[in-house]
Amino acid sequence: MKPIQVGLLGAGVVAGGVVQVLQRNRAEIQRRAGRGIEVAAVAARDVAKARATLGSEVVLTDDFDALVRRPDIDVVVEVIGGTTRARELVLAAIAAGKPVVTANKALLAVHGTEIFAAARERGVAVGFEAAVAGGIPIIKALREGLTANRINWIAGIINGTTNFILSEMRSKGLDFGTVLKEAQRLGYAETDPTFDIEGIDAAHKATIMSAIAFGTPVQFEHAYIEGITKLQAADIRYAEQLGYRIKLLGITKRREDAQGIELRVHPTLIPGTRLIANVEGAMNAVVVQGDAVGSTLYYGKGAGAEPTASAVVADLVDVTRLITADPDHRVPHLAFHPDAVAATPILPI
Ligand code: HSE
Repeated sequence: MKPIQVGLLGAGVVAGGVVQVLQRNRAEIQRRAGRGIEVAAVAARDVAKARATLGSEVVLTDDFDALVRRPDIDVVVEVIGGTTRARELVLAAIAAGKPVVTANKALLAVHGTEIFAAARERGVAVGFEAAVAGGIPIIKALREGLTANRINWIAGIINGTTNFILSEMRSKGLDFGTVLKEAQRLGYAETDPTFDIEGIDAAHKATIMSAIAFGTPVQFEHAYIEGITKLQAADIRYAEQLGYRIKLLGITKRREDAQGIELRVHPTLIPGTRLIANVEGAMNAVVVQGDAVGSTLYYGKGAGAEPTASAVVADLVDVTRLITADPDHRVPHLAFHPDAVAATPILPI
């Protein structure tokens, strides 16, 4: 069967990760998806720069609109970021009947209701695992693994840049500006780092988790948002002396008394003995409290090329399974694949 043809919108860090992961793990991905997945073309604003980043084998275009409408494109991946152009392109792809995979948390937090309504009407899937906590499969956990639960609350370190800044300020006594520059150099920070340090990026992600957990429309405009810019090294030091760590948490919580939901991002004092207090560097961690399961903790890289690509490609595999509708691959976690077993024996100790 012909591989699924992907139209990739954007040629930045995450796009590079997607191309690499699809190439490197081609055989495993094909086996798991039941069909190959190929990047047919990448749309980039600066084609020459994209050529240097993505290599000579990738087909490039600067015509984003034409790419989303091309009849041979089966699925569109949006990794351009921003909300205006991304919204237009995602809606155009959906209108053309193409499933979309996006890593764009701002887009979904602000325009999610419109986008999901359009997708429902057109009967196409929108995958967004990469939009929250990068490589941690938190969307799948909320939608699938915890689906039996009434979720009571979610609290997470969901912005790697600010966690990196707070960690470096605490452990190395570095100042805010120096660490922010390093986070930008490492590719963790948003194009506009204000989104990171003012808590906006974390609020986008908390908004998406809140909507899934509580079955509400996305309500970013109602979130309480406070970043880390007012924190000083002394605050971090005093917290430490009292046995606490300061973390920027995204929190969403069901309130029985007020029959509503809390949605907030702010620096939080956490006792140093808690697992989440010890999450350091550009890592993410999310605690989900469900009525049946109790507290569960998810930890991993929340930013960077390949962790984010890991989630984008996972969505591509899901979309491929849906498009292909191959019964052998509908329940992937339970499927037994004889080739895989033959190729990968259990090693003697
Ligand atoms: N700027 C984001 C972060 C990137 O630091 O977590 C991943 O969403």
